[in-house]
Amino acid sequence: MEAIILVGGLGTRLRPLTHTVPKPLLPLANVPMVERMVRNLPEVFDTAILAVNYGLDEMKIYFEGRDIGKKIIIVPEEKPLGTGGAMRNCIDHVTGTTAVFNGDVVTSADLNKMLEQHIRTKAKGTLALWEVEDPSRFGVVELKNGQILQFQEKPERGTELSNLINAGTYLLEPEVLEMIPPNQKISIERDIYPQVAGNGLYGFPFEGYFIDSGTPESYLEANFKSIGNNGTAAHSGASIRGPSLIHESAVLQDCIIGPNAIIGPNVKMEKCVIRRTVILSDVKGYGSVIEDCVIGPAISFEKDLSRTLVSPKGSIPF
Ligand code: GTP
Repeated sequence: MEAIILVGGLGTRLRPLTHTVPKPLLPLANVPMVERMVRNLPEVFDTAILAVNYGLDEMKIYFEGRDIGKKIIIVPEEKPLGTGGAMRNCIDHVTGTTAVFNGDVVTSADLNKMLEQHIRTKAKGTLALWEVEDPSRFGVVELKNGQILQFQEKPERGTELSNLINAGTYLLEPEVLEMIPPNQKISIERDIYPQVAGNGLYGFPFEGYFIDSGTPESYLEANFKSIGNNGTAAHSGASIRGPSLIHESAVLQDCIIGPNAIIGPNVKMEKCVIRRTVILSDVKGYGSVIEDCVIGPAISFEKDLSRTLVSPKGSIPF
């Protein structure tokens, strides 16, 4: 079975980081987002199809000769086709029921259970759904006996049909992919799903967590969530204060790390305090307090920083 991962977006909300590293290759707890997603696929999915526009060369280089336990097919788009157009562009590689993911979501949705439900209900499409407190910034669905009857965009408070939003994880039959016109910019959420609503489109509400890691705050949160139980307990040269992850190749001297600090490969730091921060590879730091930042790759800092994205192409506070 195939899983399509949508990894072609520009990642504008994470600029300037994404000027140097395309969003899908930005790490979550030291593993690129897209690799993490492929590794987390249930066993029945033996092939991951990566729908790529922006960042194609970097993606090819990253996956060249790398064995991550699944067949990887990279499908390029000459121009961005949107979420729907990008899926349609992958249709030649699809052999049946297909999973589709927004490449930047981190969720606890159980894909095996979702697949069981999809088969049991004979759905054309099943969308993972996440409950939010205030749906007025999102699109919600009306769900009845498990079926999605309609979509409602950004409902005013009090008028919402539900609190369930689309969590960017789908199971689709080929007939839904075939509904998407080829070689056109199409949004699956806005242009196609409303056409299938009430006619075999099902919802799969789940609990646990759902993070769309596309903003600086949510990218940090997704990183902290991804530390899971794999945090570093002790490291020479650092006092560790709370859940944190330090890459084995990092060299630290006289540092206080955590809570929620992630230190990437080949990082060298001396006399630094790092909290709620992601440090990408090959960064050098000296004598600084760093809080709520993403820094790197391959730059040096010697001053305190807070709530800033720092990349080789410049810095932006958030
Ligand atoms: P922003 O520019 O910050 O909004 O990020 P983005 O470009 O990633 O857009 P968004 O977060 O809305 O996209 C959701 C998912 O769909 C992400 O995984 C994107 O990589 C992917 N995506 C969005 N547009 C396209 C596209 O035109 N082609 C492909 N292949 N993927 C896309």
